[in-house]
Amino acid sequence: MIYPKTIMLTTKEIRQKYLDFFKSKGHVVVPSASLVPDNDPTTLFTGSGMQPMVPYLLGQKHPLGNRIADSQKCFRSQDIDEVGDNRHTVFFEMLGNWSLGDYFKNEQIPWMWEFITRELNLDPKKLYFTCFKGNTDLGIPKDEESASLWQAQFAQIGMEAKIGENPEIDGMREGERIFYYDEKKNWWSRSGVPGNMPEGEPGGPDTEMFWDFEPQGSSASGGLHANSKYASQPCHVNCDCGRFMEIGNNVFMQYKKITAGFELLSQKNVDFGGGLERMAAAVKDNMDIFKIDLFDGMRQVLEKLSGHKYAQNENETYAFRVILDHLRAAMFLVGDGVFPSNKDQGYYVRRLIRRSVRFAHRLGIANNFTKDVVSAVIEEYKDAYPNLIEKKDFILEGISKEEEKFRKTLANGLKVFEEKTAGLTNGGEVSGEIAFDLYQSYGFPIELTEELATERSLAVDRPVFDKLKKEHQELSRAGGEQKFHGGLADHSEISTRYHTATHLLHAVLLKILGPHATQRGSNITQERMRFDFPHPQKMTPEEIKLAEDLVNAAIARDYPVSWAEMSFEEARSKGAIGLFEDRYQPIVKVYTIGDVNEKAVADPSSPTFSREVCGGPHVEHTGLVGKFKIVKEEAVSAGVRRIKAILE
Ligand code: SER
Repeated sequence: MIYPKTIMLTTKEIRQKYLDFFKSKGHVVVPSASLVPDNDPTTLFTGSGMQPMVPYLLGQKHPLGNRIADSQKCFRSQDIDEVGDNRHTVFFEMLGNWSLGDYFKNEQIPWMWEFITRELNLDPKKLYFTCFKGNTDLGIPKDEESASLWQAQFAQIGMEAKIGENPEIDGMREGERIFYYDEKKNWWSRSGVPGNMPEGEPGGPDTEMFWDFEPQGSSASGGLHANSKYASQPCHVNCDCGRFMEIGNNVFMQYKKITAGFELLSQKNVDFGGGLERMAAAVKDNMDIFKIDLFDGMRQVLEKLSGHKYAQNENETYAFRVILDHLRAAMFLVGDGVFPSNKDQGYYVRRLIRRSVRFAHRLGIANNFTKDVVSAVIEEYKDAYPNLIEKKDFILEGISKEEEKFRKTLANGLKVFEEKTAGLTNGGEVSGEIAFDLYQSYGFPIELTEELATERSLAVDRPVFDKLKKEHQELSRAGGEQKFHGGLADHSEISTRYHTATHLLHAVLLKILGPHATQRGSNITQERMRFDFPHPQKMTPEEIKLAEDLVNAAIARDYPVSWAEMSFEEARSKGAIGLFEDRYQPIVKVYTIGDVNEKAVADPSSPTFSREVCGGPHVEHTGLVGKFKIVKEEAVSAGVRRIKAILE
């Protein structure tokens, strides 16, 4: 069969084609979960498509059935230092499809083949596949079934696909297209190889799909490797020279780690994950991921602002890539309610923005620029993520504020760094005191100082820096706010009243501040309630007064409060807020303040004031809540506000 020259699909079209394809195979397409996982304290970010699916892979019933597909936003903070080459990004979208105890290899492999060769039009001559070679100690057999299924796909189009048993030693011999690797390459679990898996963790052998960017080999390397650094080893799909790129991973998730090894899960699952941007790079057949159309708009803005063209010299290309990657990631993180701060997720957002500003400085961009780049990012993604449009102002503001703050001190900080390190020679060390001064007075995240030091072949005295930082934190804490008495929420009458007041306030904040002001945390004691929510600036006295008045008006109207159980879908279609954590619960409990048959509008003239997913309990009618008074509105961290309120 003759394959037509690849029609140049856009990244948007690839995403849509993938979702449509799996829909046509009986899958329910679900929206991407937040980059900040809900009920998972073990990790700060959603780093793979399967993360929100874990309970269902382990056997819990998914409310939407046993065939699910999506395009999941992912953030991998551990890759920050790798960004700058042609393929690493901290943010990416992972296309995913799951069989939750339904279909298995016999369907997944032919479907994938159909998708990549027919829908994406990828040339089979440039496709390679890897399978698990088996491990007798672990009691896991060789995955010959997957290997022969791939062979059958090639055979259908008249291509012979030989199997390479030892690619790491033999390299790739004539006609070989399918290769066996051990668990270091062809096993997937959230914690990596079988030996690292904690008890209870699901995992399984996988089969990966690779695209060959340079079938003739790179002339620069004098061999088949894309990079001469690898010339002493045989080139094979997993050798990291850059010639091949993994574009997707089919995990056959069927095992669970137990003390003595593995046992079979109650069901056999498929967990497929494919990098959207990588697939687009394969379609474009260009190994620079930053050249795919998705980055065109942002890249052009950056070229215009800097007066430099992309990919003219290595130093500038590096800077371009860091900015493109980091600002895109920051846009999505702020959109998911994470603001720059000194802690947890917020610290990453701060680093991403400050690092971008520093590299923009290197490109000669002297004015504030993030708004222009981030607007271009939103433009690119607004069709796939429509709520970005309503959050646009809020995102632009969150990012540019951080930029402005850092710009004020960046040039001076860089000067200080130069002065203080002028006397140091290669291998010298920047003292902890200097690093702390740069952090404290000039807002340099420690990683930035470390990076500047590395560029000059210097080290940083990290232990002393850490000690100084800790001492400083303890000092500022000692002078901080007084703690409230009380503690854990209880179900006494007073806390039930506070609980209902919390729903009223939540609805009101969303109405007056915008859809970003969703609950980030709430805490109730016998004396007061506390409510945290993302918002880029201090609420004005007028906004505070309005919030208080609206809550009191809802109390005065004495709405009935009732609850009903329903599916997640139904709750969503009824406009219930606070859905996120319960998104994958089959049945959720929904509290309505007002008429259950009407749409909730946080306005006292509306028959229904609020509808929210919640476990309860609540008062029976709002008149029981009492008089609501906001006593304080303050920052918890940059971009996250806290309201303290009492009932009189
Ligand atoms: N869980 C696999 C991965 O993240 C496939 O989705 O690569």
